[in-house]
This record gives sequence, structure tokens and C-alpha cells, in this order.
Amino acid sequence: MKTVNVGLLGMGTVGTGTYKILEMNASRISKSAGVNIKITKVLDKNFARAYELGLTDETLTTDPDDVLHNPDIDIVVEAIGGIEPATTFMLDAMNHSKHVVTPNKAAVAASYDKLKATAEKNNVKFLFEAAVGGAIPVLNAITTVLQGNEFVEILGILNGTTNYILTQMGEFGLDYDDVLRDAQAKGFAEADPTADVEGIDVANKLCLLMALAFDEYVKPDEIPTMGISKIEKDDLALAARQDCKIKLIARATKKGDKLIYGVKPEFIPLTHPLASVDNEFNAIYLTGNAAGELMFYGKGAGSVPTGSAVVGDIMQIAKTLK
Ligand code: HSE
Repeated sequence: MKTVNVGLLGMGTVGTGTYKILEMNASRISKSAGVNIKITKVLDKNFARAYELGLTDETLTTDPDDVLHNPDIDIVVEAIGGIEPATTFMLDAMNHSKHVVTPNKAAVAASYDKLKATAEKNNVKFLFEAAVGGAIPVLNAITTVLQGNEFVEILGILNGTTNYILTQMGEFGLDYDDVLRDAQAKGFAEADPTADVEGIDVANKLCLLMALAFDEYVKPDEIPTMGISKIEKDDLALAARQDCKIKLIARATKKGDKLIYGVKPEFIPLTHPLASVDNEFNAIYLTGNAAGELMFYGKGAGSVPTGSAVVGDIMQIAKTLK
């Protein structure tokens, strides 16, 4: 059976989850893809995590070119996070005829047009299912089975860290700082959690949802955005008295030809399906003019759940390389 070689940039939370799934489910994956999928090079600054997983020096490198310019590598997974050097690495990989998979919402949202155009120019695939909603296959749904719809509205709970904080503060009266630390320890939060709590991470994800569902690319810094850092226990108690929960909501609504969008904490009535989405779970509530209302629900953060979507994208590409 042919082997498809993957180069992994970054053995952090998602890189580790991706590696573990490829090991744990290797036989199911090769049977389904019709090829073996092997991580043959891993770029990182620090090899501690990689050694813990049993990787050896032969696979590990600190030189990006060992992955990006490696003639044996078919697919590059960019999982280092942040905008740079991640974007430059992805463009370089595409320009060296490598397919690219990434969970990096910040980098894809910041340069969506350029990354997409570079992939098209080089005739390579560029997939980023894990960038929105972790394990939830919402981008695939929008671009495949739902592609015959005109989308009317998208509502999303798109950040595991903030949803975890709001849930733990609201249900158990815990303090904001304690819960944030817990979310960081569980691997939900970004390296700098400002992106989570100020809604920037959600704006990045809304940008990608709008680009795919409405074919409108709005740069994340042009999306009106408010986070949860000013929410207090009293606000959560007030919401509860009104039979509501506070959720950080990403919203895009088509009004005639105009798309109205933004990210902010909202009172969600307990009767709305999004009110039952708690902790690190995410959900995307879509309305299509043919499909009607749909809700996609699942783990929006964490190593193995997010790795699940990365592996799905790798397999989708690997199947075309048989
Ligand atoms: N920091 C992100 C979150 C990770 O909490 O949802 C997943 O994108």
C-alpha cells in the first residue's frame, strides 16, 4: 500500500492530538483512505512532547525547510498557531506543491484570499475544517451537502474557553480567573487567552464561516467584536432570573443583499437550542433557505477533538493521492 507522507509543523495541543489519532486509529485510517498515512517530519522548537510520544531525532527538526522543501512530503499540517510565521510557512509549502491542512483560524482568517489563491495557483488542496468548531464538521457541511442553499443566518457559540468560563461561573458561582486557569490547563485556551476572552478568536471563526457560507470575506478586524471579560456573576444571575443564559454569540444575518455581522455576549432564552450548549462545547445554528434550521454541536476545543478534524482533512487529501 502506498504511503502518504505528512510533515507536521508544531507538536502543541492540536499537533499532539493529530499524531495520537493517526497512531491510535492507524489500521482503520489506512483501510478507509486506501493509503498509509505517516508523519515523517515534525518541526518544533522543543522536542520534549515529541519524545514523550516516542518520536526520535530522525523525525524531528528545528529547520522549517526540512518540512516545507522536503520532496518526500505530500501534505503539510501547520499547527504552530499565530499569524506569523505560520502564514509564510503555509504559502511556502503550497509554492512547493504541498497540500496544506491547518486548524489555525487566526492565520487563515487574516489571509484567506491569499492562501486560497496560492493553493489554486499551485493546484494543491487547502483544508481547515478544524479551524472552526474543533471536531464539528460544519465547514464540510456548508461546502458539500448544504451548498445548494442560500444561507439566511448563522449563529455560533464558537469558543470553548469562553463558553467554559460562562458555564462554570453561571452554574457553580466560580471566579473568572480560576476558571480561565482551568481552561488553560485543559488545553482549550489560546497561548495568549486575550484572543479568547475578548472575542477575537470568535471573530476569526465567524470570518471563515461567512467566507464559505455567504462568499463574503470580511477581515476579522472589521467584524464588530465584544468579548466576555466584563461579564460578572451578577450579569449571569440577572440572565438566569429572566430564564436566559449569557453566551458569546457570533452572528451573521443576510438582510436583502446586505450581510450584518458581529460578535458579542447575548441573553439566550433557555428555550433556544443554543442555551443547552455548555462548557467547552461549541454549536453552529444555521438557517438555509432550503434546509431550514440546523444545529451542529460538539467539542470545539481540545487536543484530540480538534485533531479529529485535522485527520479528516488529511484523509480527504490522501484519498486523492492513491
Ligand atoms: N481557544 C480556542 C477555544 C481553541 O477555546 O475555542 C479552539 O479553537
